[in-house]
Amino acid sequence: MSSSGVVISGAGLWTPQYSISNEELVDAYNAWAERFNTEHAEAIAAGELVEKPLSSAEFIEKASGIRSRYAYVKDGVLDIDRMRPKIPRRGEEDLSHQAEMALNAANIALDHAHKTAADIDMVIVSCAYTERSYPAIAIEVQHHLGIAGFGFDMLVACSAATFALQRAYDAVAAGSARGVLVINPELTSPQVNYTDRDSHFIFGDVSTAVVVEAETTCQSPHSYQVLGSKAQTVYSNNIRSNFGYVARSEDVDAFCAENLFHQNGRKVFKEVCPMAAEHLQQQVEAVGLAVDDIRRWWLHQANLNMNQLIVRRLLGRDAEPDEAPIVLDRFANTASAGSLIAFCLHHEDLQSGDHGVICSFGAGYSIGSLVLRKR
Ligand SMILES: CC(C)(COP(=O)(O)OP(=O)(O)OC[C@H]1O[C@@H](n2cnc3c(N)ncnc32)[C@H](O)[C@@H]1OP(=O)(O)O)[C@@H](O)C(=O)NCCC(=O)NCCS
Repeated sequence: MSSSGVVISGAGLWTPQYSISNEELVDAYNAWAERFNTEHAEAIAAGELVEKPLSSAEFIEKASGIRSRYAYVKDGVLDIDRMRPKIPRRGEEDLSHQAEMALNAANIALDHAHKTAADIDMVIVSCAYTERSYPAIAIEVQHHLGIAGFGFDMLVACSAATFALQRAYDAVAAGSARGVLVINPELTSPQVNYTDRDSHFIFGDVSTAVVVEAETTCQSPHSYQVLGSKAQTVYSNNIRSNFGYVARSEDVDAFCAENLFHQNGRKVFKEVCPMAAEHLQQQVEAVGLAVDDIRRWWLHQANLNMNQLIVRRLLGRDAEPDEAPIVLDRFANTASAGSLIAFCLHHEDLQSGDHGVICSFGAGYSIGSLVLRKR
């Protein structure tokens, strides 16, 4: 079939029941830091250890736009004797945490697309981390939904969702799948270093899902033709998460600070914003449109100031809230799911013929985008 006939026909957002405000997070971090500083006062005075700096809710909101984040499990995150979520271990016969998150979003997306398992040939679970290597979370989800065909997991950090959507688009365009479920169960909290003042506030948990299919089979009242899609990567060490299976053989603590998420936030900001703006401009022009033709920008949600800067570079002015919706104030950075949360919450009001762009940018560096037209 022709690639002009590929559509996004359904989108699902599943939000965890718990949330953590900046104030709660900062209170816990500061209590932990003050205890650390008291307990290590002598070593700090002797210059053997560095004093832990204090965090501030005002700084977090001003520097990032984040006010709170959702948590799959809140228990443990604010406990200064633990400083990480306490997620119950599940047995091999039980549904895994990420498969549960994935199923919650997938069922909503299927409903919105007016589709059932019988319409799907391919399941991609794509996110920043998977809780195990195999069997793939996607195959577990496929099994629970009763989907024939195949599934696989993909890891592309912040661009996992958009890169997977491009795979889905390619598969439907090539005829290797009739319908594809792309699911992003972003369980980020286990990789957050809640004892790191610079990054303890950045991430939240969420799950999103999207149905991609051929235009000819689409029955959804809100569907979007994919006009074009682009994936781009440029190697950078500025955002890293080093945890991996080799840690066991390296004789280091598998969960040491260097193995958890860390970044050089200033450099990321400076380098990624111009790359993302250029990518978006080129991509919109590649499908024969101009940036002013775009009714809505569903952008990656890492930092409010980043999104404002990118849009200003693109449009030469500030965007109206309705042009580039922000969801990170209550969701925080949800790795690859951010642009899809924005899409899920802000797409039904577009009129037939309106154009929109989904775009992610982040670790790798990686940038992914899809230009859409409402049908
Ligand atoms: C992370 C980020 C919000 C930090 O904002 P920033 O303005 O660059 O902050 P900096 O780290 O340079 O720190 C600025 C000042 O605030 C202080 N500060 C940093 N974190 C703080 C906190 N939690 N509470 C209080 N003060 C803090 C710093 O010590 C520094 O003080 P100084 O000026 O006296 O040295 C920002 O760089 C960012 O969002 N980058 C985008 C990248 C991103 O989020 N990527 C996620 C993966 S895609």
